[in-house]
Formats: sequence, C-alpha cells, structure tokens
Amino acid sequence: ADLSHANTMALSCVADTVVTLTDESQLDDFMANTADSQPLFVLSGGSNVLLPEQLQATVLRPQMRGITITAQTEDYVDIEVMAGENWHDLVTHTVNKGWYGLENLALIPGLTGAAPVQNIGAYGVQLEDSMRYVRAYHLPSKTWHQLTTIDCQFGYRDSLFKRTPNTWLISRVGFRLHTNQTHISADYGDVQAVAQSYAEQHGHTQPTPIDVMNAIIDIRKQKLPDPKQLPNCGSFFQNPIITHDQFSLLQATYPHIVGYPMPDSMVKVAAGWLIEHAGLKGGGIEPIITHKKQALVLTNHAPYQATQTDVITAQNHIAKCIYDTFAITLYREPVWVNTDGTVGYEYAA
Ligand code: EPU
Repeated sequence: ADLSHANTMALSCVADTVVTLTDESQLDDFMANTADSQPLFVLSGGSNVLLPEQLQATVLRPQMRGITITAQTEDYVDIEVMAGENWHDLVTHTVNKGWYGLENLALIPGLTGAAPVQNIGAYGVQLEDSMRYVRAYHLPSKTWHQLTTIDCQFGYRDSLFKRTPNTWLISRVGFRLHTNQTHISADYGDVQAVAQSYAEQHGHTQPTPIDVMNAIIDIRKQKLPDPKQLPNCGSFFQNPIITHDQFSLLQATYPHIVGYPMPDSMVKVAAGWLIEHAGLKGGGIEPIITHKKQALVLTNHAPYQATQTDVITAQNHIAKCIYDTFAITLYREPVWVNTDGTVGYEYAA
C-alpha cells in the first residue's frame, strides 16, 4: 500500500500491509490471528513521522470515530474521544460548545489518538493539562488498559508512548473541559494582543476562549505552512534545553537570543531562532528546506518523491551548522521509522 499521501511530509513510502480500524473489536480479531513475530507499526494522522521508502510491517491505522459526554457538572464536562477524530475539529467543536481547555491547541494537524504520544503543546498549553486518561491496547500482551495522566509519564514533547514505540495503540482519550470562560491562557508571544483585538471587535473587554482560539489560528496561519500546500511535519527539532551558564555566555555574543527559563537553572532555547541566526532560514539541502516564515519547520519541495535519505542529509547539515555556530546539539522532534517498522532514535549531532 502506498503511504506517500498518508504522511504530511509527503515522503515516498510503500508499506507491506495496511489495516484500517474503525472499531476496537477489529483490533482484537486482527491480533488473535497475528503471529507475535509480525512487525507492527501504528500510523495515525501521519503528521509527526518520517516514513521509510519501504515499510516492511503491518501498519495499523486507528480510525474509530465518536465523541461521548461521560460526566457533566456546572463547572466542567468530561468527554471521551475516539482516536480517529480529527484534532482541530475536536478543538473547534468543544470550544463552540462552551467547553474550554483545548483552544490553545487549535490547528495542530493530526488525529486525537496521536495527541498523547508527544503530549502536543502550543502557546503555553499542553495536552496533559486537560487530559485525564487514555484507553490503549498493549500490543505485546494483546490486552486493553486504562492509563491515567500520571501513567502516561508526560514531558515536553514526550510520553510513555513515545519512549516505548510499537507497544501501545491508543483508542480513546478522556478529557475534562471547563465551562468557565475566565480561565484563559494568553501570555505567550502575541496571543494576548491578537486575542484582545478579537475581544474588542465583539464588544468584550476581556478575551474569551473563542477569541484566544481565533488568535492562535491567525498566528499559526501566518507562520506555519499548511501541509496540504507545502508538505512538512511541524517543528523538526525540539527546542534544546541548556544550562543557564551556557545561555549567559551565548547572550554575551548574541544579545537577542530567545530562551525561556526552566526549572533547575536550565533554559529552553528557541531552535527556530538558532537556525535563522545561523543563516539557514529558507536554506537546507534541496529538496528539504527550512520554512521562510518559521525556520524550525522543514518543508519538502519534492512531494511524494523525496525520501528519508533527503531528510537526514538536510537534518545533518542544519544540526552541524548549529553545533559549529552555537555549540548546541539539536534533537529531532518527529518520529523516525525504520524499514522494519521499529522507531529509530539516532539523533543529529
Ligand atoms: N524564531 C525566530 N526565527 C524563526 C522561528 C522562530 O527567531 O525562524 C523565534 C520567534 O521569534 C520566537 C521564538 O523563536 O521568539 C519561538 O518561536 P515560536 O513562537 O514560533 O515557537 P517555537 O518555539 O519555534 C514551539 C513549538 C511549536 C508550537 C509553538 C507555539 C516546539 C519544538 N515547537 O515552536 O510546535 O506551535 O512553539 O507554541 O516546541 C510542533 O511541535 O510541531 C510545533 C509546531
């Protein structure tokens, strides 16, 4: 099966077999008839993966649909969302219903079931802030489990699921969303200013969660390329976390370097800033080029033809320039899939 159109980076990929799941029981049936030795790979929306040209594995695609209210009080609504629901549609649906908490995560591509894998985050909010549990299938033991937020071991762009690849298939995600309009998170970058102008257009003094969502949609549309127009997989590198001492030394040479303080005297540095200031904005190695408006996003200028080899060539070039300029190691953010369906963690140096 051709997966070139099933990954937003539009890398050329052919897989041995693809199994689409529209019902949880299909997974039980499939696994009952599958040898333990069969390589499996779970592919959701394909927006954070780098697929190989030949994927010699059975690809499981969770596409179960449905949103259910499981509890409701004056202050909150608990919902359970099936893995195949489109993430951005879920965000707009909940916010329009008056259920708040996901508004900062608008316009993130992909499906709901993949959101916990890298604990999606944007504009000061992470999935773990409103998620309560996941229901997931443990592939090695062929059993279903309910995992709490703590069980998921979330970190920055990280979770149990990302650290133990090919082990879990997430089928449902439970959220607690609140109904009070006053809990908004708008202190990141331009969010407050843009949300405030939306509020004023609607005659409010304070931005509502809908104003925040609209502001974030505007900001993302300005900077981040739509994968349908220019294939990409979002941020290509994680924002590196360095010591405060190293950051201070860099500040002496680069007074405008962007960093956010973290616990334990660490600083999270904006990798997009580093790439831009190493002179690589709009650069890279053809056909993999950093985006002109957000250098942290690598784009594919040869859709459905470029391969993982092109990606690693550009990645190594960029990471080497950053190391040579700033003595900072960049770590790749999307998941690298090997030919046998295992996930590689060989990082750039
Ligand atoms: N910057 C530059 N030049 C660039 C890009 C960024 O100077 O080319 C500067 C910006 O001016 C800003 C800072 O770097 O001062 C941070 O940029 P931005 O707000 O665009 O966010 P980011 O740190 O580059 C992270 C996430 C994004 C998320 C945004 C907003 C990571 C790896 N990326 O990017 O997530 O949307 O914050 O919260 O944490 C993704 O994970 O795929 C993703 C897009």
